[in-house]
Amino acid sequence: MPAITATAPGKIILFGEHAVVYGQPAIAVPVNQVRARAVISARPDQPRGWIHLQAPDIGLENNWGNLPRDHPLIVIIKGVLNAAGIDQPPALTVRVTSTIPIAAGLGSGAAVSVAIIRALSEFLGRPFSDNEISQLAFEVEKLHHGTPSGIDNTVITYEKPIYFIKDSIEKPGKKEVFPVSKPFTIVIGDTGTPSPTAAVVRDVREAWQRDRITFESLFESTGGIVNQARAAIETGDNTALGPLMNENQDILENISVSSGKLAQLIQSARQAGALGAKLSGAGRGGNMIALATREPAGEIANALSTAGATSTIITTVNG
Ligand code: MEV
Repeated sequence: MPAITATAPGKIILFGEHAVVYGQPAIAVPVNQVRARAVISARPDQPRGWIHLQAPDIGLENNWGNLPRDHPLIVIIKGVLNAAGIDQPPALTVRVTSTIPIAAGLGSGAAVSVAIIRALSEFLGRPFSDNEISQLAFEVEKLHHGTPSGIDNTVITYEKPIYFIKDSIEKPGKKEVFPVSKPFTIVIGDTGTPSPTAAVVRDVREAWQRDRITFESLFESTGGIVNQARAAIETGDNTALGPLMNENQDILENISVSSGKLAQLIQSARQAGALGAKLSGAGRGGNMIALATREPAGEIANALSTAGATSTIITTVNG
């Protein structure tokens, strides 16, 4: 049997991170320049139920029986076997590689889940629908992040710009794929500081519990920004996105999820001619994004590198 390969992109949140966990809408887009890849190969020389895992990026090579049951890769594979109703699969090797930076707000964990689920379900002769893939990846997200909104697994599974509203902790939420009237360019800059999503989301929850009135109002304002951004993208009024990004960044600073390094990169992108810039994802580290319609994106990327970004990506958002 030939090997089965599946890949999944990274993602950025354009508008609405954190507020989305509290029921407000958010907009996310796939980032195709970085991808996770899963390759499933048959091992007819081994008995049924034998599973070998290779994840060279994290130095992992082992049989699955030797790994803890709560290891993320074991959880994903078990999830697929359960959902496919298969107890003893034919012997196989799962090889995972990824060019998506880890803990950087680019959805590396969700992309690895989606790539494995897609490839393995196909290998088992029961290819899952996008809906099933997203739901299963959401279950894995919950183990790592506690109370995820479900936006990461959704945008990474569907690989389209999405407007997303969280549902419940059982379901990954409601997504609307919406038209991008005119393509626009985003420059992504990495602070090089890990962004621990679970810890940042927990801190925001504690702060919200201490002062619900202030936080609810900040989240509602974020929802308003997201809706204006969607309307601007749909009508091709891309320059309007810049000030909206800056407004969203002000709110993220107010809820204490920015950082000195993020602020420095955001500032240098704006000085280099970006129409707007903000952090993207959980914050405290990870990546920031800048809208690059006025200046060549390359100049903004250079300014970010000079200001200390450890890497930059230029990506075009289109329908
Ligand atoms: C993480 O990419 C985005 C957050 O809003 C968390 C979530 O939506 O699950 C910070």
